[in-house]
Amino acid sequence: MRVLITGGAGYIGSHTVLEVLAAGHDAVIADDFSNARPAVVDRLEELAGRPIEVHRIDVTDEAATDTLFADGRFDAVIHFAGFKAVGESVAEPLNYYRNNLDSALTVLRAMDAHGVRRFVFSSSATVYGENPVLERTEDMPTSATNPYGWTKVMIEQMLRDLAVADDTWRIAVLRYFNPVGAHRSGRIGEDPSGLPNNLMPFVAQVAVGRRERLSVFGDDYDTVDGTGVRDYIHVDDLASGHVAALERLGEITEPWSVWNLGSGEPVSVLQLVNAFSRASGRPIPYDVVARRPGDLPAYWADPSKANAELGWRATRTVDDMCADTWRWQSQNPDGYPA
Ligand code: UD1
Repeated sequence: MRVLITGGAGYIGSHTVLEVLAAGHDAVIADDFSNARPAVVDRLEELAGRPIEVHRIDVTDEAATDTLFADGRFDAVIHFAGFKAVGESVAEPLNYYRNNLDSALTVLRAMDAHGVRRFVFSSSATVYGENPVLERTEDMPTSATNPYGWTKVMIEQMLRDLAVADDTWRIAVLRYFNPVGAHRSGRIGEDPSGLPNNLMPFVAQVAVGRRERLSVFGDDYDTVDGTGVRDYIHVDDLASGHVAALERLGEITEPWSVWNLGSGEPVSVLQLVNAFSRASGRPIPYDVVARRPGDLPAYWADPSKANAELGWRATRTVDDMCADTWRWQSQNPDGYPA
């Protein structure tokens, strides 16, 4: 298959490009580089041992996207392009709704016009909202607590409606839990601009000496040690889940499918911090501070649907996630070269 990967220069996108190529498909990147570095492409070419076709475009641009599809001969699309910072989405809801909904709509309309029907969507476990059942299953109702999350819920709904209107579509909605880690080579990884919002990149920057101390957001939750509990998944396991979904879409008759991509293993903030300290051999000094507004105490995936239907499972442990993150962070203390 010739697969267009929007947002393919980003953190999850770049790891997915390598998995798509490793599975024997061709991967074409479309990215506007608004939250990705051009150096990623050099690293991907080095790891893949071949040139990679890259289009520097914003997929909310209808004319540019249409031209891309007119010339592209794509068999499938994996759509990552979108804004993803929860706090920023609360401050700038209009920008989030416009960018995330527009990019999905523009890509889907171009696919429709050019007869491409296989679509894999980058969704999030955030769509499970505040359900009291902590082990999330795909049949739970969806909702959100911030504009970023609502864009995921809304795009999922658009995809359901599209599948009802035209059953020649083959759509996979992938709900990610907490993606962390880096490619085992240490050549590509997560490179957040500014202060990291998420736990793992913050811990990694403390270990390498870029930040002094971690703030642990609350230790009085009803969890194993009082800190927040999540399901961390290695980005390479996540990437292989995309390839499994892409290939599965070629075999099934349903136009719309949803799969959780998680490890199924609950891990607390302090468990992750301790694992990182072991992997890096560095202390991770931290202060316990107030809870972060909007945080849920605990949730994790029931990944059994993806295990059964995709023949896929997350194989890398928390120790692997920390070791690989540390290899990336220690070899690239300031992230990608400018
Ligand atoms: C966040 C987003 C979620 C998004 C996901 C992507 C929020 C509220 N949610 O999930 O919508 O899909 O990222 O991976 O931002 N923590 C600390 N100190 C820190 C950072 C985090 O203690 O400096 C704790 C948090 O309280 C939480 C855990 O670490 O218990 C994980 O946090 P984070 O990595 O930000 O991910 P989520 O909040 O789960």
